[in-house]
Amino acid sequence: MPDHKTALVTGASFGIGQELARIFAREGYSLVLVARTGDKLRQLASELEKAHGTRSLILASDLSAPGAAAYVHDQTTRADITVDVLVNNAGFGQLGLFAENDLEECLQQIQLNITTLTHLTRLYLPEMLARKSGRILNVASTIAFQPGPYQAVYGASKAFVLSFSATIIVCRSRL
Ligand SMILES: NC(=O)c1ccc[n+]([C@@H]2O[C@H](COP(=O)([O-])OP(=O)(O)OC[C@H]3O[C@@H](n4cnc5c(N)ncnc54)[C@H](OP(=O)(O)O)[C@@H]3O)[C@@H](O)[C@H]2O)c1
Repeated sequence: MPDHKTALVTGASFGIGQELARIFAREGYSLVLVARTGDKLRQLASELEKAHGTRSLILASDLSAPGAAAYVHDQTTRADITVDVLVNNAGFGQLGLFAENDLEECLQQIQLNITTLTHLTRLYLPEMLARKSGRILNVASTIAFQPGPYQAVYGASKAFVLSFSATIIVCRSRL
C-alpha cells in the first residue's frame, strides 16, 4: 500500500461515500473503507479490485462509539498506511421534534457527525502538516447554512462541520 496514494472514506458502504470511494479508485488511489456494514464494504472492495486493481483495507466499525476514531487511526498506522486524503463522510440525520426524539440516537448523531469527525481530523491533520501533503474533505450539508425544521441537532451538527472546516482551512497554507 505505501506505493499508492490512499484515501480513507468513512461511510463507504452506501450513498455518497460509496460513490466517492469509486471515484478515488478510478483515480488510482488505494482505499481505507470504513462503516458498520462489513459485507457492503467487502462487496465494494471486490468490485473496485476487479475494475481498477484497487487495494482496500476494510474497517467495519461503529463510528458513533467513543474511541472509534482512535481505533481507525491505530489500524492504518499498524498497516503502515499513509492517509493522503481523509474523507469524513459518515453521518446521519434524526428527524422529528427534538423533545420527542430518542435521546440515545440523538447523542449518537452528535458523536458521529461531530466528535468522530473532529477526532479523525485531529489525528490525521498533524501527519499531513508534517509531510506537507494531504487533503481532508468534511461532508456537511446545505442545512449548515440555515436551521431546518424537525432537524434541530442534525442541522446544528452540520453547522459545526461547516464552521470547523472553514476555520482549519488556514492550515492549507502550510501544505
Ligand atoms: N443524501 C443527501 O441528500 C445529503 C445531503 C446533505 C448532506 N449529506 C451528508 O452526506 C453524508 C452521506 O450521506 P448519504 O446520503 O450518502 O447517507 P447514507 O446513504 O445513509 O450513508 C451513510 C453512510 O454512513 C455510514 N454510517 C452511518 N452511521 C455510521 C456509524 N455509526 N458508524 C460508521 N458508519 C456509519 C453508513 O454505513 P453503515 O450503515 O454501514 O454504517 C453509510 O455508509 C452524511 O454526512 C450526510 O449527512 C447527505
